[in-house]
Amino acid sequence: MENAERKKRIFSAIQPTGTPTLGNYLGALRNWVAMQDEFECVYATANLHAITVRQDPAAFRKAQTELYALLLACGIDTEKSIFFHQSMVYTHAELAWVLSCYTQFGELSRMTQFKDKSAKHADNVNAGLFTYPSLMAGDILLYKADMVPVGADQKQHLELSRDIANRFNNLYGDTFVVPEPYIPKIGARVMNLQDPEKKMSKSDTNAKSYILMTDTPDQIIKKFRSAVTDSEACVRYAEGKAGINNLMEIYSACTGKSFEQIEQEFEGKGYGDFKTAVGEAVVAVLAPIQEKFRQYMGDKAFLETCARENAEKALAISSRTMAKVYKKVGLLRY
Ligand code: TYM
Repeated sequence: MENAERKKRIFSAIQPTGTPTLGNYLGALRNWVAMQDEFECVYATANLHAITVRQDPAAFRKAQTELYALLLACGIDTEKSIFFHQSMVYTHAELAWVLSCYTQFGELSRMTQFKDKSAKHADNVNAGLFTYPSLMAGDILLYKADMVPVGADQKQHLELSRDIANRFNNLYGDTFVVPEPYIPKIGARVMNLQDPEKKMSKSDTNAKSYILMTDTPDQIIKKFRSAVTDSEACVRYAEGKAGINNLMEIYSACTGKSFEQIEQEFEGKGYGDFKTAVGEAVVAVLAPIQEKFRQYMGDKAFLETCARENAEKALAISSRTMAKVYKKVGLLRY
């Protein structure tokens, strides 16, 4: 009943492990911003998720503040939405434990992110890395989110969150809203500029393979100019042209132009012109965000107050879900 009356709710989060990439922006963050008018949005930095990989404490602290400032600079508006650091709202850790008891070993073993990350950090395959999806399910379910804007790489985790929610509801009666993924048509999977078969990721060892949201215009243009393409020298979207397809998706996402319009625009022109145009379109999107980011970073007191106030709001909402979960499971909480 509560559901039918309220505005649809959105939840999403991003890990503060270094500066976000253009992939994070086009796949998720710009949708976070766009959804704020129509929906009730709750967003977080997923800093608890980030410690599944070893972090240097000082660099980690800095990355969390910078990410908070960068997202405000993107247009997350705390007058409309709630935006907090996950670690400041203890219900996330609390629900994660409960849900881990309703998540099967087999399900977690099938997660491709777990397989990838455990191969990459073979010296530290910790239990948190394995149960990471239970924490993520808790994030979403605490706020009864109807929709979760994410890039395509998070789809598998979202499906598991839905399974966990359904399992719990079947056992104890209606408790959680079963969330739907919201994955954009263009930008859902921004690819690596040097190896367009892989997704763009800031943890790649080759800095030319990704665009960070804080890269300078010069760096951005250079990285696009060195992007791997093919030998056909024709700007068209087609199978077997992963590099060009990726650049076309990025250009389309940044300018709003369709693939057809892009093909016409660059008919008879070489890849050099196209790559420069893509770089310039990305600079046009990122430069105003970078300017605002610098302003927010100059006001640490504001960033702290804002994060604290938002965490209080998030705690108020999520505590209600938590109380319900404990009651349903039969855990005492006087
Ligand atoms: P994270 O921090 O890896 O990424 C944040 C968001 O960016 C998207 N993304 C991409 N989109 C398109 N192309 C790419 N190359 C690309 N790389 C990343 C991701 O899909 C994501 O939407 N587990 C999550 C964080 C999280 C979360 C949650 C998300 C924690 N709790 C609850 C949703 C709901 C993660 O590691 O995202």
